[in-house]
Amino acid sequence: MANLDQLKKQFVQLYGGTDTEIQVYHAPGRVNLIGEHTDYNGGYVFPAALTFGTTLLLRPRQDRKLALASTNFELRGLLSLEAILYDKKDDWMNYPKGIVYELLQRGVQLNTGFDLLYHGEIPNGAGLSSSASIEVVTAYALLCASGQSVDTVEIAKLAQKSENEFIGVQCGIMDQFAVANGKKEHAILLMCDTLEYSLIPFQPGAYKLVIGNTNKRRGLVDSKYNERRSQCEQAVADLRAAFPELTLLGQLTLAQFNANKHLIGDATVRSRAQHVVEEIDRVLQSIEVLKAGDLAAFGELMNGSHDSLRDLYEVTGQELDAMVEAARSIDGVLGSRMTGAGFGGCTVSLVHEDVIERFISEVGRKYTEATGLKADFYVCSIGNGVEKLV
Ligand code: GLA
Repeated sequence: MANLDQLKKQFVQLYGGTDTEIQVYHAPGRVNLIGEHTDYNGGYVFPAALTFGTTLLLRPRQDRKLALASTNFELRGLLSLEAILYDKKDDWMNYPKGIVYELLQRGVQLNTGFDLLYHGEIPNGAGLSSSASIEVVTAYALLCASGQSVDTVEIAKLAQKSENEFIGVQCGIMDQFAVANGKKEHAILLMCDTLEYSLIPFQPGAYKLVIGNTNKRRGLVDSKYNERRSQCEQAVADLRAAFPELTLLGQLTLAQFNANKHLIGDATVRSRAQHVVEEIDRVLQSIEVLKAGDLAAFGELMNGSHDSLRDLYEVTGQELDAMVEAARSIDGVLGSRMTGAGFGGCTVSLVHEDVIERFISEVGRKYTEATGLKADFYVCSIGNGVEKLV
């Protein structure tokens, strides 16, 4: 967790005044435990909020300007609330700008401007939702500071819209939802079509979640993410021959899909759809085995998820596969898989606490041997969604 006194000092150095009126907010990053590439197909996901994320310090201003600064980036800005437009040159500042734009579009009254200082602890481009974290903390803080009602499900929707339309990344709802609605020691079972969700206790006892960062950056916009999305839409279009009302793959049971998958003309598209429908089923099985306290079975489902993302959905790549393979070779690892969009980014493994040190050194070594890249590891706990700290 960030050092708040230090951050307040930095805030006063930047913006003057005293620290008495500074409000402090925090939104986490997220890790998805299982249910990958199912959100935009109207299926289930099972993510959890991390304990680290983005801290935002805020103080209202007398005018209608938005001052933006970050401890992570040199770039700062002073913008008028009346002229919020996407500008590539504004780099990270487009995330808060997108949120302000969406709030104003929805008719939210921002009566003053704000001085804002962001402090991010999530490695950028690692697939742990640093952008969703900035978006959600901004929306939450601006609404609270303007005395408006705050609904974290609405905030997730608004943040996703901003990412889709203002930033131009066609992501689903999972990241923003997890960051907005997470709870300490719980994972979120979310049905992405209806946004019905429940918090499921996740206390794996002697086992810890260990995130492995491949340090292979994954660019969502440039990646094959959008191609996967349109392949899923193609599968739906083909399956409409049997289900005229079908709009999302998540509306089919596994049995219905298997009985009709021959209707999907293209073999690659069929594999993509097979992954989605089986992955949704794996999420539901995960809830059952976790309720029964069977962590080993959950680990197997994590492994199955990765293998399907590798073989059917083809979004893993050499780096994630090498890291997962090294992780699984260690006794005391119940399961290991990629998490997030894929094409680089992070893995998540369920590791017995007694072997964590060995895990980090051996997986690190094998990973470097296989790829030439250096890995980073974070032993993590599940934290809360967005909240006001001070
Ligand atoms: C990214 C997107 C999410 C989701 C995952 C894959 O993290 O932002 O909406 O689609 O990829 O599960």
